[in-house]
Amino acid sequence: MSENQKKVKPVEPAASAVKPSVNRAVTRARKAAEKRAAAEEKAAAKKAVAAEKAAEKKAASRRKAAEKKAAQKRVNARKTGNEPARRAEGDRKPAPMPPRRVLILNGSPRAGGNTEAAIDELCRVFQSEGVETETVQVGNLDIRGCIACNSCSESGRCVFDDIVNELAPKLYAADGLVIASPVYYASANATLVACLQRLFYSTHFDKRMKVGASIVIARRTGCSAAYDELNKFFTLSEMPVASSVYWNNVHGNDRGEAALDSEGLQTMRVLARNMTFLMKSIALGRKRFGLPEQEQRIFTNFIR
Ligand SMILES: Cc1cc2nc3c(=O)[nH]c(=O)nc-3n(C[C@H](O)[C@H](O)[C@H](O)COP(=O)(O)O)c2cc1C
Repeated sequence: MSENQKKVKPVEPAASAVKPSVNRAVTRARKAAEKRAAAEEKAAAKKAVAAEKAAEKKAASRRKAAEKKAAQKRVNARKTGNEPARRAEGDRKPAPMPPRRVLILNGSPRAGGNTEAAIDELCRVFQSEGVETETVQVGNLDIRGCIACNSCSESGRCVFDDIVNELAPKLYAADGLVIASPVYYASANATLVACLQRLFYSTHFDKRMKVGASIVIARRTGCSAAYDELNKFFTLSEMPVASSVYWNNVHGNDRGEAALDSEGLQTMRVLARNMTFLMKSIALGRKRFGLPEQEQRIFTNFIR
């Protein structure tokens, strides 16, 4: 037997063996401890509430002082006729903004067709929003494709002096560009595509933050592919793309049928409103923050 095993286990006194007076004392002590803890908890809660109230009071008085200071600054700005300073202080009165301009390219060869009807729906909203529009029908013109001569890299103009070079200054001056096309074989009209490729390739001015929107018109299908094709001109040029409640399609085949596509026309109206909002917001943001910093362009081919 080990030393430990040999140790005699101390005998716990039986409950009945503890004197009643000791029991009462223990109960009293426990109750007192509980009372103390509750009181401490109450005091701590009271202290926390008081601290919160004090912090709120302090913040309110700081806010009040800042408002007073800002108001005084506005009064001073008014006295000195320093209007921009007044606006910078958050005076809610917005400065009048010159109307936004949108260039619209109609890629259909058909005058009075469904593409035109969709454009008309956009224009009604643009007009009510005070946006200036210019629509150029390019789908009926004889526009050849790019021949990759690269002479535009020197001149900033296309070697073929046609509608493409006429569109360049219009695009430069515009805050937004709408490209509209009938769907041909699940693609945009080839004439329009030739025009866009030469226009975007030959012009080197900054197109950043001009808002783009493309709309496609089809009898039945191929809208999505054509829509993607057209949006790619924007997304390569740092142009934000305006969107609507649906992808921007209008359906119709014969002239006048687009007017029956109420969902398509609503999509056009919402698109015009959203595009207007974006153009205005970008104009304000541009004034306030300037355009984003521009990096030196890195141009790699896959083989080097
Ligand atoms: C050459 C050609 C190809 C077409 N391909 C398609 C097509 O792929 N999918 C479709 O739904 N409609 C197709 N259409 C129908 C047109 O997209 C449709 O008639 C549209 O409303 C024409 O617009 P517009 O009236 O402005 O010219 C095609 C029409 C033509 C002339």
